[in-house]
Amino acid sequence: MKLKNKFILAAVCIFIISACSNNDEPPIQGEYSEEYYAGGKNGTVFINSSFAYKQPMPVIDEDPVLYTQFMRGERIADKSFVASEDMAYSGLGPVYIRKSCIACHPSYGGHSQRVDKYDSNDSRCGYLLMIYNPNEPNLPLASKYFTGMTQTRAVHPFKPPVNESGITIEWKDYVDEYGNKYEDGTTYSLIYPKVSIAQDAILFEDFDMSQHAASIEATIGIYGIGLLDAISDEDLRAEHQQQQTRGYCAGVIGADIDETGLNPYFPGKHPGRFTYLCTRATLDNGPGANALWNITNVTRGDRKYHYITEEYAKVMSKDTDVQQALGKTETEVFEWLMSKDLQPEMTMDDYNAFMVWHRGIAVPAARNLNDPVVQRGRKLFYESGCIACHRPSWTTRSNYTPLPAISNQKIYPYTDLLRHNLEMKEPGRVQVCRTTPLWGRGLMKIVSGHTDRLHDLRARNTEEAILWHGGEARQSKEKFRKMSKEDRDALIKFLDAI
Ligand code: HEC
Ligand code: HEC
Repeated sequence: MKLKNKFILAAVCIFIISACSNNDEPPIQGEYSEEYYAGGKNGTVFINSSFAYKQPMPVIDEDPVLYTQFMRGERIADKSFVASEDMAYSGLGPVYIRKSCIACHPSYGGHSQRVDKYDSNDSRCGYLLMIYNPNEPNLPLASKYFTGMTQTRAVHPFKPPVNESGITIEWKDYVDEYGNKYEDGTTYSLIYPKVSIAQDAILFEDFDMSQHAASIEATIGIYGIGLLDAISDEDLRAEHQQQQTRGYCAGVIGADIDETGLNPYFPGKHPGRFTYLCTRATLDNGPGANALWNITNVTRGDRKYHYITEEYAKVMSKDTDVQQALGKTETEVFEWLMSKDLQPEMTMDDYNAFMVWHRGIAVPAARNLNDPVVQRGRKLFYESGCIACHRPSWTTRSNYTPLPAISNQKIYPYTDLLRHNLEMKEPGRVQVCRTTPLWGRGLMKIVSGHTDRLHDLRARNTEEAILWHGGEARQSKEKFRKMSKEDRDALIKFLDAI
């Protein structure tokens, strides 16, 4: 961005902050304490409009080459891929989950919205559908039938493995052991989802849905992900050790991934840090780099094959409608679907630009930290043991080669990046969940128009999210339940400010 534009942006930001702040006299930018810089000095932007989760980090902004790549990468994430050949953004399918990142990650920031119908054409529905073995909820389904993330869309003449019209999401009431009452008598209500899939919605005749379970998982957020990637493995392991001495996250350090990074459940090099189950350890083999391929099934130089199961390829290649429409024999269809050497549909230049965007999205600065109520809430947050898991700060490693400027940054994500068991009622596959980062979430209402939270969006606001904390977080939740209304509100106001 040109210097002149930057001045305008800074002026606009200061104006927005002044205009929206509850403080009588907001401090000028130069006087902000380091906690305002949630993404560190080089990774934070001062903005609290509906564009808050889409900004390039200042270091990207200042470098014309990186900035161009960032914008090119953002377009790739924004655009819907199409099945037609030889167009920009072609390569969708044959079977897929959504057409774009933005279809599930609204403005790349907060969670998607709680919905009561799984409809992938509904832009509010950012859920991923998972079909899993109920006896092994924390593992992805190593299924011969379904891909780990269930595909519900297909390009003609192919058929989706699951027909969305057969997926039911039911929201059930939950009454906790206190009869949904705070110590001061105030009541609250809690709901949780139950997901089922009708047998006849499943493409595979020999797959018995009654022996399986289904659940939904919501998007987390993309901003600041480069900074989380820049935390060192050593610091992550040290944090895990410290948690174990507390008796927390017994034995769980996400999933170690092996050196090739391709088998997340193989003990190896890096500790997991991304996704609710910490199944991914590095951004280069992380949820975004993978999603660009497996959500859309767009092939590229380093992924010259489809995200597909052999069983699906078998069923589709035997389908006479498919054979006729493509003018191919069963063997030809099967071989194409399972080929390991397909023509790349996306160039590696585009992919590299996408990764600059992915790594380079800034974290919005904290707001109103000097407000006395927010200060009170901060004190309560620390005193209630929330920081045991929502670890306030980390310092990124000193040699982050993919984007050196975000090395050595003190960041405030409010997470230990480790998994804990909160013993939620029917949590689906995510029983032992990574602590969700809390940075920037207070802007969700402005950016995405709702406040839904937790891995399946069962919490309709921050308060309900806290009330769902049991298990390892029970004591913290108890402290919250015993607070006066004023203190509960102050704590929530603090969470909205960071
Ligand atoms: C079908 C909806 C959907 C689409 C489309 C989608 N995601 Fe996601 N994404 C999710 C869900 C759900 C999660 C959390 C899942 C989990 O933890 O297993 C997630 C997690 C992530 C995370 C991990 C965040 C963290 O803190 O660990 C990143 C990064 C991400 N997605 C990036 C992307 C990018 C980039 C794209 C486009 C190429 C994309 N996603 C497309 C649903 C989607
Ligand atoms: C034992 C670890 C632990 C403690 C202690 C803890 N949390 Fe959490 N917190 C988690 C985990 C894990 C999640 C994600 C749970 C999920 O989505 O299923 C979470 C999620 C949240 C969320 C929702 C995040 C989102 O956007 O989905 C909020 C808000 C939150 N915690 C606030 C608090 C507060 C306030 C306290 C203290 C009263 C606290 N937590 C104590 C582990 C903890």
